[in-house]
Amino acid sequence: MTAQRRAALKGRVRVPGDKSVSHRALILGGLSVGETRIEGLLEGDDVLRTAGAMRALGCEVQRDGAGRWRVYGAGVGGLAEPGDVLDFGNSGTGARLLMGAVACHPMTAFFTGDASLRRRPMGRILAPLAQMGATSASRSGGRLPLALTGGTLVPIEYRLPVPSAQVKSAILLAGLGTQGTTTVLEPERTRDHTERMLTHFGAQVTGEDAGSGVWAVTLRGCPELKGAAITVPGDPSSAAFLAVAALIVPGSVVRIEGVGLNPLRTGLYTTLAEMGADIAYENRRVEGGEPVADLVVKSSALTGVDVPPERAPSMIDEYPILSIAAACARGRTVMRGLGELRVKESDRLGAIAAGLGANGITCAIEGDTLSVEGCGEGARVPGAGTVETRMDHRIAMSFLILGLAAKAPVTVDDTRMIETSFPGFEALMAQLGAGLGAGAGAGGAP
Ligand code: S3P
Repeated sequence: MTAQRRAALKGRVRVPGDKSVSHRALILGGLSVGETRIEGLLEGDDVLRTAGAMRALGCEVQRDGAGRWRVYGAGVGGLAEPGDVLDFGNSGTGARLLMGAVACHPMTAFFTGDASLRRRPMGRILAPLAQMGATSASRSGGRLPLALTGGTLVPIEYRLPVPSAQVKSAILLAGLGTQGTTTVLEPERTRDHTERMLTHFGAQVTGEDAGSGVWAVTLRGCPELKGAAITVPGDPSSAAFLAVAALIVPGSVVRIEGVGLNPLRTGLYTTLAEMGADIAYENRRVEGGEPVADLVVKSSALTGVDVPPERAPSMIDEYPILSIAAACARGRTVMRGLGELRVKESDRLGAIAAGLGANGITCAIEGDTLSVEGCGEGARVPGAGTVETRMDHRIAMSFLILGLAAKAPVTVDDTRMIETSFPGFEALMAQLGAGLGAGAGAGGAP
C-alpha cells in the first residue's frame, strides 16, 4: 500500500477500543462468576484470539453486536483444560496474560502464535510462574510453542526485571489462585489496567509507594470475582496515529472522541506537547474506571525534543509514530531507554531506523537511544521509500502516516497486520480525507 501527500485532514472520528483493556475484560470476565457485559470491545485479531482462548478454557463468550460482548465466566480455579493448542496469533498480551491465568489451574495448556510471537521472549513470564510452582517446557530461549502446567501455587513477592505490564499482569492473575498475598515491585510504573479492572470485579488490590521510587502492587488471593459491566475506552495507542497525521499534514483539524487517557499511557501526548503540538483535551470524563477525553488536534510546527528514558513505559508502543512526528519536526529528537522495543512484534528499533532511512531521513541508534534528524515541516521529508512491515502493525501504520506528509509517496510492503489492533484503519483515514491506495499513485493527489 502506498500513501502520498494530502491536503488537510478534517473530521470527527472514534478509534476502536483499547487493546489492553479489551484483553483484560475477556480474561477477567472468564475468571468471574456471573455475567460480564462489555461495550466497545476491540474486534481486532489479537483480541479475537483471546476470546477464542477463553472459550477453549471453558467460558461462554458471546458477541451481541458491534463491540458488544458477553462473557459467562468459570470463576477463579474453574477454567477447564483446553482440548487443543491455544494459538494467540500476533498477540503477546493475550498469550502472556493467559499464561498467568492458566498457571493457577491444575491442568496443562499448550501455547503458540504466529512467526512474530514465536520469536518473542516468554522466559520473563515463565520465571515468576515457576517461582509460584508452575512448570513449563518451551523452545530454546523460552520461546513458543510451550506447554504450561499449573496447579496449587504459592504467592510471591517479585521485582520486575523489565518494566512490563504483561509480566506484572501474569503474576497478578496467577496470584488470584493462591492463598495469601502476591506482590509485584515495579522500579518503573507500567500501565495499571489489570489492577483497576481487578478492583472493579471485586478483588482486593492495592498500589503504594514502597520507597526508592519503587511501586508495590499487592493482591489478596482467592477472591470470588463477580461479573461486571465494562466500557472499553478508545485506544490511545491507535489514536496516536491519527493525532500525528493531523499534526504533520498542514491545515488539518481532527477531533478524536472517547480516547482513554490512563496517566500511565499518556507519555506520547506529553512528548507531543513538548514538541509544540496543538492538542486540546475536551469533555474529560471517567468511563469504566478509566479517564477519557475527546482530542482536538490541529496541525502544528513541531520541534525536536529529548525524551527521557523514564517516560518509555508510558509510551512504549508509541515510538514508531513518534519517530514519524520527529522526522517532520525542526531539529533533532532523541529517544532514550528503548531496549524493550527490540522484543515487540518486531525489533522495532531496527524497523524504525530502516524505514526512516529508506525515506531519506537521517537517524542513528546508539545502544538503547534513537536519534532522528527532523526535516522540518512543509513536506521536506523526501519519502519515496518502501518500508518492510516485519509483521508489525504499528510499523505499517506509522509509515503510511509518514507518506501523507512526504514529498514523494511512501510504500509499505504488507498492511495485513493492521487488523490485529486497528480494524478499519484505512476506512477511518479515508473518512478524514486521507485515502490510502493499493499502489503508487492510487487514491489521487490532493
Ligand atoms: C501491554 C503491555 C506492553 C505493550 C503491549 C500491551 C499490556 O507490553 O507493549 O502492547 O496490555 O499489558 P510489555 O508489558 O511487554 O511492555
